[in-house]
Amino acid sequence: MNLSRREFLASCGIGMGWLMGCARQPSVQPIATMITESQSITLPSPHLSGTVSLEETLARRRSVREFANKSLSMEELGQLLWAAQGATSPVGQRTAPSAGGLYPLELYAVTRDNVYHYEPQGHRLSVHAQGDLRSALWSVALQQDAVKNAAAVIAIASVYARTSIKYGEERTPRYVHLEAGHAAQNILLQAVALKLGAVPIGAFEDDKVKQTLALPTDHAPLYLIPVGHLNT
Ligand SMILES: Cc1cc2nc3c(=O)[nH]c(=O)nc-3n(C[C@H](O)[C@H](O)[C@H](O)COP(=O)(O)O)c2cc1C
Repeated sequence: MNLSRREFLASCGIGMGWLMGCARQPSVQPIATMITESQSITLPSPHLSGTVSLEETLARRRSVREFANKSLSMEELGQLLWAAQGATSPVGQRTAPSAGGLYPLELYAVTRDNVYHYEPQGHRLSVHAQGDLRSALWSVALQQDAVKNAAAVIAIASVYARTSIKYGEERTPRYVHLEAGHAAQNILLQAVALKLGAVPIGAFEDDKVKQTLALPTDHAPLYLIPVGHLNT
């Protein structure tokens, strides 16, 4: 991360009190154990209609960093993941556009139970790592409490090679990062429509996030999106 922590958090509107509280960085938690025998879960079919208009979700979207202590249902989690990268055509096109249809993004959901990997084809989850890694993730995301307290943290990672094979080294970072923005915004708007709160987080230690979540070598974390029920 090129931006200093102070610069970034100032730009996010996060104050000095938070900075002082996080002056001491803990060491990285033990690496997640990757599951070798994949346990697969079929998600409930996504809803294709809702009760809130697109215009209303746009007007109401706001970064939410505090959450109620309540898990997401599989239906809610599946809907958020579908919004980001769900398959919406028989030939595999998705909810978010992708340069050349190469789909470099991979999604992980870090919950109190497990770390899941989202499989757009079939709208399924596989268990990527067992256990609750939210606190471990918090410690490598500048101890931002939204990461620890969210019902789920959706991590958007990218496999740059899928895009660079067609677009080369110069255009690829631009295209992949634009795509992560598309997917992230879809999650944020879907969260509003589900009456959930969410915040996009870019301030974290890339290598440590990768290590904590035991991501495959070619999966680079780009965004963390804590999501949870609103505090009433
Ligand atoms: C690329 C990017 C990175 C961000 N990273 C963080 C972050 O690390 N922590 C955080 O609390 N908010 C983060 N935010 C959220 C912004 O602080 C927030 O969008 C901004 O203050 C405007 O508020 P709003 O989202 O409520 O409209 C990020 C936003 C973007 C677009």
